[in-house]
Amino acid sequence: MHTLKVALGARAYPIHIGHGLLERPDLILPHLRTRKVAVVTNDVVGPLYLERLCAGLRREKVEIVSLLLPDGEAHKEWGTLNRIFDMLLRERCERATTLIALGGGVVGDMGGFAAASYQRGIAFIQVPTTLLAQVDSSVGGKTAINHPLGKNMIGAFHQPRLVLADTATLATLPAREFSAGLAEIIKYGLIRDAGFFAWLEQHIDALRALEPGALAWAIERSCHLKADIVAADETEQGERALLNLGHTFGHAIETGLGYGQWLHGEGVAAGTMMAAELSRRLGWLGDEEVARIERLFERAGLPVRGPALGVPRYLALMAHDKKVEAGKLRFVLLRGLGRAVVTADVDIAAVGAAIEARCVAEGGT
Ligand code: NAD
Ligand code: GLY
Repeated sequence: MHTLKVALGARAYPIHIGHGLLERPDLILPHLRTRKVAVVTNDVVGPLYLERLCAGLRREKVEIVSLLLPDGEAHKEWGTLNRIFDMLLRERCERATTLIALGGGVVGDMGGFAAASYQRGIAFIQVPTTLLAQVDSSVGGKTAINHPLGKNMIGAFHQPRLVLADTATLATLPAREFSAGLAEIIKYGLIRDAGFFAWLEQHIDALRALEPGALAWAIERSCHLKADIVAADETEQGERALLNLGHTFGHAIETGLGYGQWLHGEGVAAGTMMAAELSRRLGWLGDEEVARIERLFERAGLPVRGPALGVPRYLALMAHDKKVEAGKLRFVLLRGLGRAVVTADVDIAAVGAAIEARCVAEGGT
């Protein structure tokens, strides 16, 4: 097992990464205020892993209530969130109850938001079971639900007490979901670690083959890079925005197509290609660097072109981005591999041209 720390003073917490951690209640117990937990999961992950998590806790005399939400990004909304509150109230969960989110980023984001707001805030623990959640969404305390007009628009910053990433759960993850997680891993290399990007170029096949050593290193390195950024800028006043490389375009794709059509990581990959294209047009990134990014995403099984929504629709959707400041859109762009920057100083015509260049042709899929 490897343990990293998110250094947030009084709200610091560990990230444990390892094989078989679901069966380690000893890692959870020190973080409980009372011996009562509410586990939120979904109807895909629950049948696979809920009992594995609960058996050990029950042996330690922890009272457990649980809820299986419907699966999917389309359910990351008010109605589903309310089902968590219904359960917490029905089961008489108190302020000292700890909520455990067992699942991917959808369960983690919704469970986290429920914990942030139930009785004005209760403790929660992230038990991520997708690659994306283990390298990204479970770390850093962003919680949210979607709004029809914009992705993750309603939410709160609420840090977990613990992240428990059991890599054994990845064995049941569908290949398409695994690739979606690789998009966020590649993102970290692009943002601030060119050496990691080069390592990924060498090990992408090993990762897709679930080679344990490669997988453990990729997860650990990603969490390390994210934990550092979160510790420096918890509520995204500055550099945390770098973690949104590709997300302004990607969120537009997810919202524009309807939540759940494209996976989040797929939107991030195609969106990152648009950001790379825009960086190239500004003279910040060379042709060969753009080609390297494209090749790596392709080898990871990810799309490198966005859907043909049309430039005006992309721009309208992007206007709801959380990085908009005083009505002006800010972009995360690349000044080289491993060197992301945030800038508002971009001509909208160049943005449109970059989108156009990186979309499938009208009528294509
Ligand atoms: P997800 O939660 O929808 O999980 C993907 C699919 O895999 C689902 O069908 C899920 O039921 C299934 N699944 C989960 N674990 C499994 C396992 N071990 N075996 C088999 N199936 C399994 O999607 P995701 O990619 O994990 O997360 C995407 C969400 O995370 C998006 O809503 C995105 O906005 C959010 N996100 C949040 C942050 C953040 O900082 N909070 C960062 C990145 C992404
Ligand atoms: N995934 C973006 C962030 O955590 O800030």
